[in-house]
Amino acid sequence: MAEETLKSGLLTNLFFEIIQSPVYIALVSLVVFLVYKIIKSRGNDFAVPPPAPQLPKLKKRDFTLKELTQYDGTQEDGRVLVAVNGTVYDVTKGKRFYGPGGPYEAFGGRDASRGLATADVSASAEEYDDLSDLSAMDMDSLRDWESQFQERYDVVGRLLKPGEKPTNYSDEEDSSSSTAKKSKDA
Ligand code: HEM
Ligand SMILES: *[C@@H]1O[C@H](CO)[C@@H](O)[C@H](O)[C@H]1NC(C)=O
Ligand SMILES: *[C@@H]1O[C@H](CO)[C@@H](O)[C@H](O)[C@H]1NC(C)=O
Repeated sequence: MAEETLKSGLLTNLFFEIIQSPVYIALVSLVVFLVYKIIKSRGNDFAVPPPAPQLPKLKKRDFTLKELTQYDGTQEDGRVLVAVNGTVYDVTKGKRFYGPGGPYEAFGGRDASRGLATADVSASAEEYDDLSDLSAMDMDSLRDWESQFQERYDVVGRLLKPGEKPTNYSDEEDSSSSTAKKSKDA
């Protein structure tokens, strides 16, 4: 019995000696530090990236082909618009694709319909393109692209045919801008 107590007493002493030793303290500190680092770096993976500065939503309006060319991302505000099958989308959040230097910059400020339909990144007509000569397969492909744009980007208006008059959106604009203001205030 006495021997047992002595033995465990020695072990306890040894234990306290170890945890008081500088090497032990250093090791524990290192482990704690590493665990902290790992947890912190994991946390960073889930952290929200800083939001890209957002342009105010463009007022709903229609564009001629010529007016559209202003919005290729080279002007001051850097806004990029793309027309797909007669609808103009604000693709500014996809600027890395359609903006200057992007892989699809030929679509920026242009009617991308034919290019998307025929998988030709360089095709962008100077003249209004009625797409009437596209094959059924190309039309299907364009339809798929169109639904992707609808999902991803805001509609700004329509691409005008030559001589077509722009729609007056002022009535709609009133209601949509007041809802936008409400959600921003909330
Ligand atoms: C070698 C051929 C190609 C490769 C490897 C390629 C690769 C890609 C990749 C990886 C993305 C997705 C990027 C992302 O979401 O971060 C993308 C998007 C896209 N690609 Fe391509 N692509 C090719 C050809 C084409 C062609 C020929 C067209 C023309 C029709 C095209 C039009 C697009 C468009 C419009 C987007 C969507 C950008 C957006 O989100 O708005 N690509 N491509
Ligand atoms: C393009 O839009 C017109 C309506 O403006 C529609 O009738 C046609 O099916 C669309 N084409 C494609 C390929 O989406
Ligand atoms: C558009 O309509 C509004 C009223 O609905 C009117 O006040 C405005 O002058 C119109 N603008 C044009 C360009 O016709």
